[in-house]
Parts: sequence; C-alpha cells; structure tokens
Amino acid sequence: MRGSRRDHEQPERPRGFDRRAVTGEPGSAGDPPGDPRAPRPCDDFYGPDFGMLRREDPEVAQVLLDEVERLRGGLQLVASENLASPAVIAALGSTLTNKYAEGYPGRRYYGGCEVVDRAERLAIDRAEALFGADHVNVQPHSGASANLAAYAALLRPGDTVLAMALAHGGHLTHGSPVNFSGRWFDVVAYGVRRDTETIDYDEVRDLALRHRPKMIICGAAAYPRLIDHAVFRCVADEVGAWLLVDAAHTIGLVAGGAVPSPVPYADVVTFTTHKTLRGPRGGGILCTGELAARIDRAVFPFTQSGPLMHAVAAKAVAFGEASRPEFRAYAEQVVVNSRALTGALAAQGMRPVSGGTDTHLALIDLRGLGVTGAQAERRCAEAGIILNRNAIPYDPEPPTTTSGIRVGTPCVTTQGMGVDEMEEIASLVARAVCRTGAITSVAERVTRLTRGHPAYPRG
Ligand SMILES: Cc1ncc(COP(=O)(O)O)c(C=O)c1O
Repeated sequence: MRGSRRDHEQPERPRGFDRRAVTGEPGSAGDPPGDPRAPRPCDDFYGPDFGMLRREDPEVAQVLLDEVERLRGGLQLVASENLASPAVIAALGSTLTNKYAEGYPGRRYYGGCEVVDRAERLAIDRAEALFGADHVNVQPHSGASANLAAYAALLRPGDTVLAMALAHGGHLTHGSPVNFSGRWFDVVAYGVRRDTETIDYDEVRDLALRHRPKMIICGAAAYPRLIDHAVFRCVADEVGAWLLVDAAHTIGLVAGGAVPSPVPYADVVTFTTHKTLRGPRGGGILCTGELAARIDRAVFPFTQSGPLMHAVAAKAVAFGEASRPEFRAYAEQVVVNSRALTGALAAQGMRPVSGGTDTHLALIDLRGLGVTGAQAERRCAEAGIILNRNAIPYDPEPPTTTSGIRVGTPCVTTQGMGVDEMEEIASLVARAVCRTGAITSVAERVTRLTRGHPAYPRG
C-alpha cells in the first residue's frame, strides 16, 4: 500500500513458450522427476468422487459433465473468466465447506476452527506477500461483496463517490442506479474522452474539485488500457478523498508483474480471485494497516457472516500458484496474446476501442461492419466461440444490443495457446461475425484448435 511501493518493472516479453510453463499443470517444464505436485492417489483424503455423484444424482452429474464438455469444445474469450487448476478445484470440493467460522483466525465465534484457521492464515500470508500489502481480507464471497464492504468501511449512506460510468467501462457496483451503490450513495460519473477513448483525467480532477467526493474509484470491467493510479492518488489527495482501486479484472496481471500494481497508491484495493488470478470464484480486499480493522469489521459482521472456508482454502492455493515463476510467464503471455488478438482483429476490420490494449481484454467496435454486439455474440456462439456483447463508449445502441464485443485471453492462454493461435482466432471471430454462411466451417476450425489445446485435458 502507500509507503510500501514496489516499483513496476516491465519484463521482457517471451517469444515462444511452453504450454506447461504457463498452465501450471503438473509436470511443468523444469520440474524434477517425482514432482510433489504430480497427482497421486491419497487414502487419507475424503474428496470429490464423481462416480458417487453420478450414482446418487445423475441429473446434476450430467450438468457437470456437460459443462466440462462445453469448456473443452469451445473457445472461451469471456474476459472475466478463467480455468481454475485441478488443485484449486480439489480445495473447493472439500469438507471445509461444512465449517462455520464467523470471525477471523484465532478470534472465531465457533469451536473447532483450529484447522480452518490454518487455511485462512495461509491465504492471508500468501496474499500479503504476493501483493506487498499491509493487510488482506480473504473472506468476501465475490467482487461485489468486496466492494460493498469497502463502501461500508469508508462511507456513510448519502456520501458522494466519484467513479467511472458503467457505459464507459465501469462496473455495476460503481454507482449504477440498479445497484446498492447508486441507490445508497450520491455517485458522480467520469468517462473516457471521445477522441482517444481513454480516461479523461482532466475531467476526473474537475469533477473531484467540484463535487468533493469522499471516495474515488478507479478500475473497470471493460477498459483495455492501463490506469494511471498515480494521477488518481494526486486527485484523491487534493480533495481529501479515499482512493479505492477495483482491480477485479487485473489482479492476476498484477500478481504476475504484467501490469503495474495499484497497491502503492490505493487506500483500498478490491479484487476477484476467479478472473485473471485463475483461482476460485470469490473476492478479496487489500488495504493499508490504518484501515485494517475497519475493513475487517465491514466484511464481518457488517456485510457477511460465515466465510466460505472451502473457498478460502482454494484462494490460498491460487495465491500460492500465482507466486510461482510459471504464473509470471502466464500473466505476461495473457497480455502478449491479448495484444496479438486485438491487432489481428483490427487487421480484419474490427476496430479496437482506444486503438488497442495493454491488458487481458479488448473492446471491439462493430459499427463499421453493420453488426450489433448481440448479433456478433450469437453468431460466434453458434461457431463455438464464447464472448460477450459489450457497450462501447458513447454507444448509440441500448445495453441489451450494444455496438461492441469484449474479448479476453485468460482462458485460451491457460490452455497454452500463443500468438499463432490468436491470429487464427481473430480470423475465426471475423468470419463468424461477418459471414453467417461460414459458421459451420468456423466451428470445424474451432474444434481443431481446441483439440490441440484442450481445456481440462482428459487423463
Ligand atoms: C470491475 C469489477 N468489479 C467487481 C466485479 C464483481 O465481481 P463478482 O461478479 O465476483 O461479484 C466485477 C465482475 O465482473 C468487475 O468487473
């Protein structure tokens, strides 16, 4: 956090890479024979038994099987998704789901918490070390829960908040009128410039000086460029506001050193563990030592009660994985792939908002092609390419239709795909979007690509 700044080094981008070096699969290149991470039968453990589920509840078992098949059979370009490792999934499918553990390690309101305390301590210690943060809370059930707790810790209902407009890439929890944030707080929105489609920092400062917000939020759900945290810090200091960085999307890239860390600048950083970080579905909060007690009280007992201890254990696994060199290679490759995909889409006439990307995602403006975001999403899905329609800044279409799509590379990079595959994917997306007659041939090429780089490879 502030005062504990770790300088961001721009690492050299790898050219080629070994799939196993970025996927973190057992048997990664460089692992010695007899790698302790290699899967082994374990008689002491009571864990997922799919055969049992199939016998007990074939209907639900079939849903699980169909979802694995869906992941294996298509290209997942949804920027907010990833493919958690078998180790993360094993922790999620554990008996820790049974335990009530209201409170924090060593300070619980239930007996029998000594074991799950160890899981939460591991998660906290690993996240503090990974992000260089003074304090971490690993209990938020999701990114939205983390944001609710951050508001609760720092504000009172009716306080003024300055945050990015949802229509320009912000998130529901940054002041949408259909969300608690817009209902309970007086939210002033900043956006991106029409010409550059990047954050208008002059507007941010002007609005801050005019409205004197108690909290400023930066971080977004659909903004492809780096955010200048130092500028936000200066503006927050100028008006005496807290600075909340919502790093839900980029936290895995921060962990892997592929984008600058917000930690030195923010009072509070909220994040999710299931997007670029590649962990279990969940949230977390980093904060300064000064705010530690307020954040902890805001999570429990103010906005949540019992933590999901199986998810906390899985977060510990994910933080451990994200601390390894393989994850650095992964995070860098996510950005390399994202740039390659975006450049190749642009070459196919699909205009990237802001001209490109610095992160794991791109926003594509389809107006020049005469196709809406909703049409593009549907056509791609028919060909086995899963992405989402997304408003572009100053979008003339309503949010249900949109003029854009959002694409991201966390999943395909986890599958070991590189720049060559990104170029192929761009041409498949362009053909699916523009040539409705090509869906079958695109689908065949998608199948070939996913066979070569499967999600959750069989045995
Ligand atoms: C910027 C941002 N903040 C918060 C969230 C909320 O995360 P969750 O869906 O886990 O509640 C998201 C989810 O996409 C997001 O993009």
